[in-house]
Amino acid sequence: MLTANELRQKYLEFFKSKGHSIIPSASLIPENDPSSLFTTAGMQPLVPFLMGEKHPAGNRIVDVQKCIRTSDIDEVGDATHHTFFEMLGNWSLGDYFKEDSIKMSWEFLTSAKGLRLDANRIAVSVFKGNDNSPFDEEAYNVWVNLGIPKEKIAKLPKENNWWGMETGPCGPDTEIFYWAGNPSQVPESFNDDNELWVEIWNNVFMQYNKIAAGEYEPLKQRNVDTGMGIERILSAVNGFDDNYETELFKPLINLIEELSGQEYSKNQKSFRIIADHLKAATMILGDEKGIMPANVGAGYVLRRLIRRAVRYAKLIGINQIFTFKIAELVIVMYQDIYPEIKKNKEFVINQLILEEEKFNKTIEQGLKELEKMSAKKKISGQDAFVLFSTYGFPLEMTKEIAKEKGYEIDEEEFKIEFTKHQDLSRTASAGMFKGGLADNSEQTTKLHTAAHLMLAALRQVLGPDVYQKGSNITADRLRFDFSYGQKMTPEQLKKVEDIVNEQISKKIPVISQEIDFEEAKKQGAMGVFEHKYGDKVKVYTIGDFSKEICGGPHVDNIEVLGHFKIQKEESSSAGVRRIKAILE
Ligand code: SER
Repeated sequence: MLTANELRQKYLEFFKSKGHSIIPSASLIPENDPSSLFTTAGMQPLVPFLMGEKHPAGNRIVDVQKCIRTSDIDEVGDATHHTFFEMLGNWSLGDYFKEDSIKMSWEFLTSAKGLRLDANRIAVSVFKGNDNSPFDEEAYNVWVNLGIPKEKIAKLPKENNWWGMETGPCGPDTEIFYWAGNPSQVPESFNDDNELWVEIWNNVFMQYNKIAAGEYEPLKQRNVDTGMGIERILSAVNGFDDNYETELFKPLINLIEELSGQEYSKNQKSFRIIADHLKAATMILGDEKGIMPANVGAGYVLRRLIRRAVRYAKLIGINQIFTFKIAELVIVMYQDIYPEIKKNKEFVINQLILEEEKFNKTIEQGLKELEKMSAKKKISGQDAFVLFSTYGFPLEMTKEIAKEKGYEIDEEEFKIEFTKHQDLSRTASAGMFKGGLADNSEQTTKLHTAAHLMLAALRQVLGPDVYQKGSNITADRLRFDFSYGQKMTPEQLKKVEDIVNEQISKKIPVISQEIDFEEAKKQGAMGVFEHKYGDKVKVYTIGDFSKEICGGPHVDNIEVLGHFKIQKEESSSAGVRRIKAILE
């Protein structure tokens, strides 16, 4: 049996031997990315480098990235889809392309240096082309030359074999499938509809930048982005046809059996959802940028995951407070790989207990209310909103119950109600569970540089205990969280503005250098993102005023920033303040 850790090591070492630098996983909460609540793919933290910026670790990168993906949430409950997963990824940033990428994947999967999978159980798909982009003949031919029978090389349309996010780097891909069924009954040809052909790896050939729907431009460089979910490949290597049988889930399944007194084999869907969602909730709460359950944004996704798990737990007879027990086990399972979850253990446990208690208080009442409301077999938008705001039912949960019972639900009206009750800008993120890309517009870049100036100014005014806790920058404004225990006075805010504007008036160039992390620390560079970049880091310096470890991008000279203005200062969470600011 190959362990998960042996698999991670094998993958990293294999690609290291092919000239790749190993970098650590980035946070689950993206930096400076207004369009995405979570890191949904390994490529997301690497977007600036896929766009052409130089990565300090070089142009061949390999890593294991923790990811949260909620776009497939309805499929969680089957054997292969998960909300939290780890993605093994190797990248070429303008270096090798299709041929080398495919050959390396094949070697890793089938050779003695890699996983020794049975080549006969592997099939692939390539992009068949459309009006805008041609058939990927190059990828096709590489597979043919590797000896894959043509029946096992499917040519599929864009829906299957093109990868990108809402905007940003994208291109055709080739997907690799493994036969999870009986090894003596491997079909002669690949069939996309047969679930026993499990997609294990996706190699994306990123040549384009998607600017908007239907609008593409060539990228500065040709990249490769590959992603292989650890849960699936571990299952394949060890001969399982259910990811929940692997060590990444089995201990959780066993614990749920203990807590419920029920058997997994008879309640697969509930068991899987509980294990999946609570593992995801633990990883989100335990992330270095831990967030709390809330009614908007990433906090809302977290709330949905916890509450959905609790509801499924009730279906199999778990009635005591239990989510923290699952979390304790998740922490034991993953703490060596992601030490942040161990560090934040108390926070994770406390938040889970609080959320579960809150939900338990209202769930029974809410379910009764729902019964009453649905006398007409239809739940109005207002009713769904009452369930949401008074009884804490996430819309998706109301929908799910409605579906089970055959009631209709007026979702549009719910959304109108919801919008009425929320600050508009915050609402935008609540419905947004799909990934998107960091927007690298000029205005966002300016605000990003302004954020560096502001942090330095805050430290001058409030003292050296001020550290960045998070940031979110759009083309319209910057939002910045930092450690500080009290409300700032109007005088302090004015002073911060004045200091930033005074710096801007000095027309200072922004200098970037790549240096060793230790050296950067020695030079006193501020940094919350250092873990992303491994040993070599990029440091941005603005005169003798600001020095930060950061992936960029930034303006060349701060003279272009204009006038800096703080619009709002408020509490973000205990000991953390939030500033919203603009450039005029
Ligand atoms: N970006 C691709 C995916 O997420 C490959 O890493 O599937």
